[in-house]
Order: sequence, then structure tokens, then C-alpha cells
Amino acid sequence: MDAKQLTTLFEKNYGATQEPVHCFFAPGRVNLIGEHIDYNGGFVFPAALSVGIWGALRFRDDNRVCLKSTNAELAVNLELTDTLMFLSEDGWANYPKGVFAKLFNAGMTLKGCDILFSGNLPDGAGLSSSAAILVLTAFMLRSAAGETEIDRVALARFCQQVENEFIGVNCGIMDQFSIAMGQKDKAMLLDCETLAYEYIPFVLQEHSLVIMNSNKKRELADSKYNQRRSECEAALDILRRRKALKNLCQASVAEVEEQLSDATLRRRARHVVTENERVKQAKICLMQGDMVGFGQLMRESHASLRQDYEVTGRELDCLVDLALKAPGCIGARMTGAGFGGCAIALVKRDAITAFSEQVGAGYSQATGLKADFHVAAVSDGVKILD
Ligand code: GLA
Repeated sequence: MDAKQLTTLFEKNYGATQEPVHCFFAPGRVNLIGEHIDYNGGFVFPAALSVGIWGALRFRDDNRVCLKSTNAELAVNLELTDTLMFLSEDGWANYPKGVFAKLFNAGMTLKGCDILFSGNLPDGAGLSSSAAILVLTAFMLRSAAGETEIDRVALARFCQQVENEFIGVNCGIMDQFSIAMGQKDKAMLLDCETLAYEYIPFVLQEHSLVIMNSNKKRELADSKYNQRRSECEAALDILRRRKALKNLCQASVAEVEEQLSDATLRRRARHVVTENERVKQAKICLMQGDMVGFGQLMRESHASLRQDYEVTGRELDCLVDLALKAPGCIGARMTGAGFGGCAIALVKRDAITAFSEQVGAGYSQATGLKADFHVAAVSDGVKILD
């Protein structure tokens, strides 16, 4: 969608006036490898996608904010003079509302506005629709207010805080960072302890990255997500009795095996430490064009998330198992938080149709659900639409 089409859609919803309509886009993200690592201070390897959420904004001359989306029936109005609080009946609109609340509390002068969102990113699919709408809203407000030099890393941190404090999900920085900082045809290797990052060309030789949506919505994801995070903190507290560690990724497998007597904590920590090593290896594979090596790391990542971290679930395991047996596939794993959502597979380009047919049929038979398949296109981070 370009700015003209988005403006037409906006005016259908809010009517036409003389005031300009400001148009933006924020992508979803896919994480190539490095799952449940960001809040443990290690390396992640995400990329921004070409699918995402469009946003249009027009200022009003009062203090009201109207939030609508073409993807939901619920529309929500806020008064900027109110105390803005999370309300479950506000559903999806709590995300943009959280951005307004936090900017308001930080003392930014906010004006009333009408906002329309429209996306092609499935909700609850692990492609970060929540971080996309947060980063989009914050970028829109600052950009429409005339800011030209927006610090994108600070923007990502700000949006992570909104998700932690307003929404109540104790997520790490990966999603907001990749949506704010993405570059076309590049993956990002991000050190979540220091936020140092580098862009690595997303070149998969004769393969493509296929995104497989299990269409199993995440349930109880948030509470289990927060539970995993607490388990990692508990493991780190124990390991710190013997050694000054900045984060759990700095521990070694031997330390984890020796010092964590609780079997659950030991498995959680083992996933974290081994996954962080896989990310470093994956960078080398991608840079050297070693796709078979990359695929092998994806398999190991999924097995670790399944057995040690226990965040995959029946549907994602089924998709990945089927993918690994299907034509042209050299590696597959879940991506994102897990508990449902999407998996990814590295597939020979000329086998994609046969691959999708075989996996799709097997998946329906096993689960009664229909999976969706599409080839990932890696794109830029949040931006103004021309
Ligand atoms: C979600 C969170 C991220 C990250 C992933 C798991 O997407 O928002 O911060 O922890 O799960 O890697």
C-alpha cells in the first residue's frame, strides 16, 4: 500500500479535511535463530519483513485520540487529559494507548489525532504484530510532530518499556529493535547485553526462507513467557553464587550442568547457553554461504526449544517434523516466543511448491488445522511512506 491508497482508506474512515494525513509503515520480524536469548543478554539474529502494519495519522484540534483498525471491529477513543490505563475491554488498542500514556507521562506535548491502522501481519503468529504497532505508533507521533532525527535505538527501548510496564509482558528488546532498525535484505546480529549490532547480508544461496504459520494462536503465552523469564533469573541467581556473571549467556554448559541441581532450571539454562553459541555459529555459516550448516543449527535450535525450554507445543513440532522430511528442506525451527505461531524452514527455491503441498497436507491431517506458507522478503524498519 502506498501513501495515496492509505490516505484514501483513512478518509473513508474519518472523512476528508484540509489537514494533511501522515502515512507510515512498520514491518513484522522473523528471528533466524537465537530464541529466548534477548532477555538473557546474548545474541539474536532477526530480520524485518515486508509484511507489517500501515498507519495513518491526522491531527485534530481537540484533545481526543481516535484509534481504529481495518483489522478489528473495536475502535477506541481516548482523552489526552485522562489518566490512561490498561483496560482489557480496549483489546488491541491498549498497544497504541500505552505509547500515548508513556509519552504523556514523560512530558511530551501531545495533540489529539485520528489514527487508522491496517496490517497484513497475522496476530499471535510470532511475527511481532505487537511490537510493530508499538514502534509504529511511537514513530508516527514523533515524526508527525516534526522530529526528523529520531534515535531508533532509543525508540526501540522506549517501546520495550511500554510492553513491559503497560501491557505487562516482560519481553526483551529483540522485536522492537528489529522493527526500528531493520534494513532491506539484511539480517541483524544483535548483542542484547550491549545493543551493539551488525548487519549481515541475507543471502541464502539457492534457498529461500519459508514462513509456516501453524494458525495455532498463542494461548497463555504471556504468562508462560514471563514464567520462563523468571526461571532464567532463578538459574542466574544460583550461578552467581560462584562467579560474577553479567547474564545467563555468559555461563558455560559445564557450570550449568554442575551447579543447577533443579532439573527444570538446568534444562532452561542449558537451552540458553547452547542457543547463544548456535547464533554465533549461524553468523559464520551465513557469511560463508554454508546453508547446510545453517540448517543444522536450526534443527538443533528447535530440538533445544522443544526438550529443554519447552515452548514449542504439538502444532509447531508437527510442522517442523513434517518440514524436515519434505522436498528441498535443509533445516527448520519455530520462531518467536513459541507456544503456537510460526515456524521457518530453509527450502531449495525450486522445491517450494512441492514442499508447501506436502507439509500442508500432512499438517491438516495431523492437527485439523490449515497452515499458511509464504516466502520471507527482508525489508526496511519503520518508515515514512512517500
Ligand atoms: C517474543 C519477545 C522477544 C523474544 C522472543 C523469543 O517475541 O517479544 O523479546 O524474547 O519472544 O525469542
